[in-house]
Amino acid sequence: MGKLQACVLGSTGIVGQHFIRILENHPNFEVTTVTASQRSQGKEYRDATDWIVSSMIPESVKHLEVLTTDSDAILKQDVDIVFSALPSSTAFDIEARLAMAGLPIFSNAGAHRMDDDVPILIPEINPDHLELVRGQNYGDGFIITNSNCSTSGLVFGLKPLQKYGIKAVTVTTYQAVSGAGRKGISSIDILGNVIPFIPNEEEKMVSETKEILGDLCDGKVIPADFDVNASCVRVPVQDGHLESIVIDVEEQVEVEQIIDMLNNFSGEPQSLRLPTAPIHPIVVLNESNRPQPMRDLSLKEGDLGMTVKIGRLRRNGSRLNMFLLVHNTIRGAAGASVLNAEFALAKGVFE
Ligand SMILES: NC(=O)c1ccc[n+]([C@@H]2O[C@H](COP(=O)([O-])OP(=O)(O)OC[C@H]3O[C@@H](n4cnc5c(N)ncnc54)[C@H](OP(=O)(O)O)[C@@H]3O)[C@@H](O)[C@H]2O)c1
Repeated sequence: MGKLQACVLGSTGIVGQHFIRILENHPNFEVTTVTASQRSQGKEYRDATDWIVSSMIPESVKHLEVLTTDSDAILKQDVDIVFSALPSSTAFDIEARLAMAGLPIFSNAGAHRMDDDVPILIPEINPDHLELVRGQNYGDGFIITNSNCSTSGLVFGLKPLQKYGIKAVTVTTYQAVSGAGRKGISSIDILGNVIPFIPNEEEKMVSETKEILGDLCDGKVIPADFDVNASCVRVPVQDGHLESIVIDVEEQVEVEQIIDMLNNFSGEPQSLRLPTAPIHPIVVLNESNRPQPMRDLSLKEGDLGMTVKIGRLRRNGSRLNMFLLVHNTIRGAAGASVLNAEFALAKGVFE
């Protein structure tokens, strides 16, 4: 089978740019259509985009004409798969229309995440939730979402502990400015500052965490039944969401055993050797002052932003404390979506 022709919706924003970067030379997908707002319509991609995610815009994309994000315009192109990096408010209708027209949609937007029949898929964590797409009413098309950026890290800290009985989770985040988008937060508001509020983020962390870690029963997800309490804070860091997590666990497990379990955690993307799957989904750092966004997010061979870093594991009675770091625009956004598409392809969902 040749490469599937991909359309990136919202291609000029931060997540859209990461899609373009990650999909360069991808073995299964090739970006041939790009869309953005009316502001960018008709321009060459390189002129419409303030490129910030690597040194160069990929040659294969820089001369593409940016289309307006309109289903008729997109359906006139030769498109086999859609990656969406649109604001939620814009994503709802267009994603549904393109799915109805028979296209597979892999979305970062929150618009369809909490629909009963749409999986919030993280294939290392809840691969079975992929089954939900079979019950969707989009004809030959379907919608698969990934979680919001902070939740995409949190669930890696929780999943390996679920078998010991999680009673409650308290999480406090220190979230990077890139999480707010290319024009999301002004420098005057964030430089030398910390803002203890991110609209809707705490609610999303609660509902998405319980959904992702929930059980699939008779074609429906029964959300996990432990309490999640979230406080979300914006900090003056470019990339990387750090999270302080306190987990109340029923069974007492030695910290050393937990470290071992986290370091050895892996899932179907690893056994299938999917192109975007990291060798180690979780790495525990032993230094007492790690993980740090500045030191622990550099992209290098074997760690292209898809590995979640955990450190400062310690016990306080029945509670386990840890710090966790996730690359918000890669594992928390574009990389997560590309991995979902590779997984769906490998599992035969496109057939
Ligand atoms: N940033 C993160 O860490 C992160 C993580 C997880 C999920 N997400 C989600 O991913 C999506 C994209 O986030 P982002 O950070 O990449 O945002 P962004 O940098 O603000 O980019 C938004 C993109 O959408 C386009 N757009 C804006 N309004 C539009 C409209 N009315 N019609 C059509 N296109 C429109 C923009 O085009 P123009 O350039 O023409 O304005 C741009 O391409 C959001 O739903 C966000 O919640 C983001």
